[in-house]
Amino acid sequence: MHFQKLAILALSGLAVAHPGSHEHGSYSVASKRHFLHNARRSLDLCANHLDKRGINERAKVRRASIVEANKKRTVLARDLEKVVNTSHHSTLDVTSSTSETELFNANPTCILAPEGEVGPFWVSGELIRKDIRDDEPGIQLILDAQFIDINTCEPIEDLYWDVWNCNATGVYSGVQSSMNGNGNDASNLNKTFARGLQKTDSEGVAQFNTLFPGHYSGRATHIHVIAHTQAHVLSNNTLTGGQISHIGQLFFDQDLITKVEATSPYNENTVAITQNANDHVVQVETANSDSDPFFEYTLLGDTVEDGIFGWITLGINTSASHDSDASYAATLTANGGVSNSNSGSMF
Ligand SMILES: *[C@@H]1O[C@H](CO)[C@@H](O)[C@H](O)[C@H]1NC(C)=O
Ligand SMILES: *[C@@H]1O[C@H](CO)[C@@H](O)[C@H](O)[C@H]1NC(C)=O
Ligand SMILES: *[C@@H]1O[C@H](CO)[C@@H](O)[C@H](O)[C@H]1NC(C)=O
Ligand SMILES: *[C@@H]1O[C@H](CO)[C@@H](O)[C@H](O)[C@H]1NC(C)=O
Ligand SMILES: *[C@@H]1O[C@H](CO)[C@@H](O)[C@H](O)[C@H]1NC(C)=O
Repeated sequence: MHFQKLAILALSGLAVAHPGSHEHGSYSVASKRHFLHNARRSLDLCANHLDKRGINERAKVRRASIVEANKKRTVLARDLEKVVNTSHHSTLDVTSSTSETELFNANPTCILAPEGEVGPFWVSGELIRKDIRDDEPGIQLILDAQFIDINTCEPIEDLYWDVWNCNATGVYSGVQSSMNGNGNDASNLNKTFARGLQKTDSEGVAQFNTLFPGHYSGRATHIHVIAHTQAHVLSNNTLTGGQISHIGQLFFDQDLITKVEATSPYNENTVAITQNANDHVVQVETANSDSDPFFEYTLLGDTVEDGIFGWITLGINTSASHDSDASYAATLTANGGVSNSNSGSMF
């Protein structure tokens, strides 16, 4: 594809051109906008199909029950009362009497772009596991994504969502780099917090239990996504083969970020915050398109510190392969994390 070539050229250029800064938007913006426009049209055509099959409704019910199951006890008691009061209704009716209704009724859709930036901090070979918090301090974040194939309008089953984000003070696990916290800290190579993979079920859904990301220089708060399709699971619970159908980044509302950043240990980070509106990836992913790469969310309790549930629907092109755009900083191996010496001038 034309735009893939452009992306490769751009990626190879960026490593040389901007050695000091974090991440760059040097791929073809025009190509991406073209894709976003076409993909949006394709996914709009899917809406009826998804409704008829009950996929949208089941997603609402499922998301509501996740919130119920994870609510902090005091809140749960209040909500239990509501549930009891409306026990003749379906789960969906119950949620329609709760404050989350508006959130669940929204059907947020992010059209994944063809060659979204992988950034300099992907670690290949991570473990397939749902709870990726390890013992890292920070606010609990339950992430829920539903992957829809824009070519067939069907949920994508057996897709592996590869996720990663920085910790509360803006450092990624698994990467030793002067752009990533203390560049002399070799012990970080063996850390795996906020990284892992999960397989989508028959509804195209995968979930993680992770930490709300902090921030670092030049970037808005974000979560990374790689979507692996047709991959195989090894006996040590890692993935091999298949193809990368998508690479992208997802975001959070600024007012939510502000609340999180006011709490400890997020507030120990003195690096200036980059607002969503000023983030180059947000700009490219939303320019001239209907793509909405922001998580819908609800709080699991009364304050952000009780935890956050975020969800999103992603439309992706399973015919596409973006393997060549997936540069990685390191690989998790049986002998711990190993830096990738071919990852360009990232270090
Ligand atoms: C549940 O129903 C009782 C009796 O009608 C009412 O007093 C109470 O306020 C209701 N609780 C909620 C949370 O709606
Ligand atoms: C974030 O990760 C870095 C590297 O592992 C670590 O030095 C730092 O203490 C972590 N932040 C918090 C709040 O634990
Ligand atoms: C999906 O990817 C294939 C292969 O790269 C491409 O031919 C097709 O145009 C893409 N579909 C959309 C909607 O961009
Ligand atoms: C998992 O097994 C593969 C194949 O033997 C190996 O290359 C990889 O290093 C292993 N990963 C871990 C985390 O043990
Ligand atoms: C990383 O873990 C491996 C064992 O999994 C160990 O051999 C290695 O020394 C560790 N590296 C560091 C820097 O701690």
